[in-house]
Amino acid sequence: MAKVRTQFVCQNCGTVHTRWAGKCEGCGEWNTIIEDDPTAGIGGGPSRAPKKGRPVALTTLSGDIEDAPRIQTGISELDRVTGGGFVRGSALLVGGDPGIGKSTVLMQAAAALSRRNHRVIYVSGEEAVAQVRLRAQRLGAADSDVLLAAETNVEDILATLSEGKRPDLVIIDSIQTLWSDIVDSAPGTVTQVRTGVQAMIRFAKQTGTAVVLVGHVTKEGQIAGPRVVEHMVDAVLYFEGDRGHHYRILRTVKNRFGPTDEIGVFEMSDKGLREVANPSELFLGERNEKSPGAAVFAGMEGTRPVLVEVQALVAPTSLGTPRRAIVGWDSARLSMILAVLEAHCGVRLGQHDVYLNIAGGYRISEPAADLAVASALVSSLAGLALPADCVYFGEVSLSGAIRPVAHTAQRLKEAEKLGFSQAVLPSASTELPKNGGGRWSEMESLPDLVARIAGSRNALRPAEHED
Ligand code: TYD
Ligand code: MG
Repeated sequence: MAKVRTQFVCQNCGTVHTRWAGKCEGCGEWNTIIEDDPTAGIGGGPSRAPKKGRPVALTTLSGDIEDAPRIQTGISELDRVTGGGFVRGSALLVGGDPGIGKSTVLMQAAAALSRRNHRVIYVSGEEAVAQVRLRAQRLGAADSDVLLAAETNVEDILATLSEGKRPDLVIIDSIQTLWSDIVDSAPGTVTQVRTGVQAMIRFAKQTGTAVVLVGHVTKEGQIAGPRVVEHMVDAVLYFEGDRGHHYRILRTVKNRFGPTDEIGVFEMSDKGLREVANPSELFLGERNEKSPGAAVFAGMEGTRPVLVEVQALVAPTSLGTPRRAIVGWDSARLSMILAVLEAHCGVRLGQHDVYLNIAGGYRISEPAADLAVASALVSSLAGLALPADCVYFGEVSLSGAIRPVAHTAQRLKEAEKLGFSQAVLPSASTELPKNGGGRWSEMESLPDLVARIAGSRNALRPAEHED
């Protein structure tokens, strides 16, 4: 028999190392590597003797396609991110920080589905039945026919699920509490989590049940995070939000049966999560005509336009290295915008601290936000407020040119709907709608925009004198 060597597995990303290390080279996280027994096997029954294979029937590419049948919850923000409802026979992972609202949203979905005469089973491994009942009462879901179990053993769960009528939806809360008899490691380790998830996925494919798995994002590496099973499931949603704020965003990260750039927006209330049909109103904050440094970005999230306020504060610094503090945007992109402002527009920020914040704790990943960020920075530096009824979008290239972005018409339509009558956008934008009362200013380059905001740059002069 081959000599068994211990291996070290990162509990965050699953990378296998031969030696222990403080930092995982796979994902860059610290203290996430723990010793693991490789003979425990990943996702299979290691102690069983290999059985002789059985031939499976081969088929052709043409033929009937069963349309992925979906079960809709009627909670439209949730149905949107799943791409039109839970898909039968698929496994969906819902990840997020502890306490963000995963159990809440899934209990609401479970109640909604059972009211539509679907058989829903909720398996809680974290909370006792009484706790889950308490939450259900709070959510007004106690009268629904959701079936409940508090169980963590994979074999017991599977045995329970295969009894009686086949369920339409099974929720496993959470994968980190699952443990299987066939592996030796402790619950929460990569091996246990993967084995449990594998078994649940197999159940989903075999029976055509939609399985929803909950996974906590863990900061310390002691238990495996949802990332170690992302590649195994059909769809991955992440629940995000700031504890200081009431709203929560459900974001699609992976979806084999739908789009991956959708978001669903919810607001946490004392009766559970409420859908937010018009997210722009949430992220806009209080608009003030007089305060410099705020620009409204007309963004897109998947198929949906979202307006959000970008706030910048530029202040002279006494430090040798000025501060760059950013919340909700990419720091590399900010450095790029600062460099372009300096190189092409004569706006020097080397002696200034720069603080950038996206209102409401929202996170922007679109390059189209460049123009709004640049406008907010220049506005703050010049001490001149931007027009309160103006939106900005466009990508800035290193040469200082403003490049067109997609979905111009949709962005402008949303802006008009929310009472904005002006827009600064890239020139050569296609699909520009016939101007219905709004004033669209097409900008070719960043220097043009700076001149427009700072009024032939007079307002920026004090800054230029400083170096
Ligand atoms: P929960 O769904 O238990 O989080 P997770 O499963 O992601 O760990 O949500 C817990 C938080 O939500 C907790 O801080 C209380 C809050 N909450 C409300 O504000 N209103 C409600 O109606 C419910 C059920 C929870
Ligand atoms: Mg929970």
